Amino acid sequence: MKILKTAKSLQETRKGIDGLVGFVPTMGALHEGHLSLIQKSLKENPVLIVSIFVNPTQFDSPLDLEKYPRNLTHDLSLIEQIAPDAIVFTPSVSEIYGNTVHTKNYAFEGLDRIMEGASREGHFQGVATVVEQLLDLVKPDKAYFGEKDFQQLQIIKKMVSQKKHPTTIVGCPIKREPDGLAMSSRNQRLSNEQRLHAPLLYQALQEAKSLFQKQNATAAHRHVEALFAAQTHFTLDYFSICSEETLMESHVDKTEKVRGFIAAQLGEIRLIDNLKF
Ligand code: PAJ
Repeated sequence: MKILKTAKSLQETRKGIDGLVGFVPTMGALHEGHLSLIQKSLKENPVLIVSIFVNPTQFDSPLDLEKYPRNLTHDLSLIEQIAPDAIVFTPSVSEIYGNTVHTKNYAFEGLDRIMEGASREGHFQGVATVVEQLLDLVKPDKAYFGEKDFQQLQIIKKMVSQKKHPTTIVGCPIKREPDGLAMSSRNQRLSNEQRLHAPLLYQALQEAKSLFQKQNATAAHRHVEALFAAQTHFTLDYFSICSEETLMESHVDKTEKVRGFIAAQLGEIRLIDNLKF
């Protein structure tokens, strides 16, 4: 495994690579969800580059950024076990942003202001800024993103097409714990009691899906609201049924490909999930 800390060393290494390059950008605190992206890249490309960078511009709260789990040694050992030839890029903040940490301005036609964007101002501008910078440095043939962050995946596809970036963006299915909770680095911060309640998010999505299919969107919405009103651990942030393509709620009908999206606050921790309806 090769660990590179500077943009310059990454660019030099990249110049010497001939075969197809697969890229998996992460913020570390790796779990099986991240590893499934790595496995997919390994199947499709001889060369794997993984980045581990906790991107400050996508956090709307300094406390959230400070508390984001970091464990580089453990992350590197997980990568080494499944991809001993991987190139791992672990830059510092100044290596990515120079002296002034700034966010670029992208026109995502509102895609970045709904759901996660409405709750976390500037979040997707920060995500797009770092992903564009990383794609420019890594120049991968394919880059792998999880459907766990479905809105992020769609926004990155949009950014890549707007910028006419040659990389193909590949979406990968959500990895879940046996009780249905979507794997997330943030799950590490849940207390034992919170962890017991956390699968409610997936349960709500599954029940909403069934009601949507048998009845309609209104029945699904009513059920989710009632589920959350009947307990005190979680506060529901949003539940939306949206077109996969446009992420717009208003045009949803059963002939379109739609997904249910949910976000809720469990104590200090905000959890998100989504499911194909
Ligand atoms: P991070 O949260 O570390 O996630 C890195 C990648 O792993 C993302 O594409 C995410 O969707 C995927 N992922 C996370 N949990 C998953 C799960 N349970 N199943 C499948 N895939 C999962 O997302 C980011 O980092 C950042 O925003 C980043 C794109 C790296 C830009 O900073």
